[in-house]
Amino acid sequence: MKKTILITGASSGFGLMLAKNLHEQGFNVIGTSREPEKYAGKVPFKLLQLNIDDDNSIKSFTDELFRYTKQLDVLVNNAGYMVTGIAEETPMDLGRQQFETNFWGTVKVTNALLPHFRAQKYGQIITVSSIVGLIGPPNLSYYTASKHAVQGYFKSLRFELDQFNIKVSMVEPVWFKTNLGSHAVSAANGSIADYNAYRQQANAATQKGIDEAEAPDAVVNTITALIGTKEPKFSNPVGKMTGMILFLQSYAPKIFEGSILKSVKTAPKATDRKCLKIRS
Ligand SMILES: NC(=O)c1ccc[n+]([C@@H]2O[C@H](COP(=O)([O-])OP(=O)(O)OC[C@H]3O[C@@H](n4cnc5c(N)ncnc54)[C@H](OP(=O)(O)O)[C@@H]3O)[C@@H](O)[C@H]2O)c1
Repeated sequence: MKKTILITGASSGFGLMLAKNLHEQGFNVIGTSREPEKYAGKVPFKLLQLNIDDDNSIKSFTDELFRYTKQLDVLVNNAGYMVTGIAEETPMDLGRQQFETNFWGTVKVTNALLPHFRAQKYGQIITVSSIVGLIGPPNLSYYTASKHAVQGYFKSLRFELDQFNIKVSMVEPVWFKTNLGSHAVSAANGSIADYNAYRQQANAATQKGIDEAEAPDAVVNTITALIGTKEPKFSNPVGKMTGMILFLQSYAPKIFEGSILKSVKTAPKATDRKCLKIRS
């Protein structure tokens, strides 16, 4: 029987491409969006309503999911967004909200589905973390912290779930072309003058990463391969230079840190930051 795969955040970016791809391969795909009505008739797979920030939404989503299907083999925790900006200037509420979605939302959805996986004595959980779950570039402190948190959580959880034959994997992409940049949230106007020059450079470096990103195929292929594997690896970095980045961080930290400092200094100046908005 073809596997049933649930993908959170399937209205855009990685989630949308993965959902379409798996649907075309004949898998039973269920995606989620906060506003599924916006995509009615536009996606070929089932799209259910889910806001991972909201406990009530998670509860009604879970009820709806198991009314729709009795079978669930794979959960892909993909929904998330990015807060950018100088850490000290970022309002605490933006930082908290980043954790509410990327960490707590992911944990809560996982917890809602674990009873099902335990009862059937198998399952697979694949979580889209980020290369910033493994390294820490400037201008992305809260995003980086949220992805480190998620990475650490599943690093422990996987051992607890091993006895139930539930496989746990992380996917850690570098920059890929999705709507992550246009959906990003930032304190757009700097409040601390000491950072004026650095802020401009750091924003330019972040924007360069977004502008030069690769097409998302490699991420979709990595997740698809994990679904088809008996013994999936826990950590799966994807994208240009990931091997080199992680090697340098572990074995040549001075070179690694020097290259991050240099990438900020030499980034072409951004003339504006239209892609980064303030969350109201
Ligand atoms: N693109 C990259 O370079 C990159 C690199 C590393 C990791 N990632 C990670 O990849 C994942 C997918 O992002 P993407 O790049 O594909 O960005 P995207 O195009 O902006 O897609 C984000 C998806 O997440 C959903 N979402 C956001 N907040 C949500 C919430 N509170 N509750 C439920 N769904 C929510 C959105 O759905 P609705 O708006 O329809 O609800 C959307 O489908 C994220 O976890 C991101 O951190 C991306």
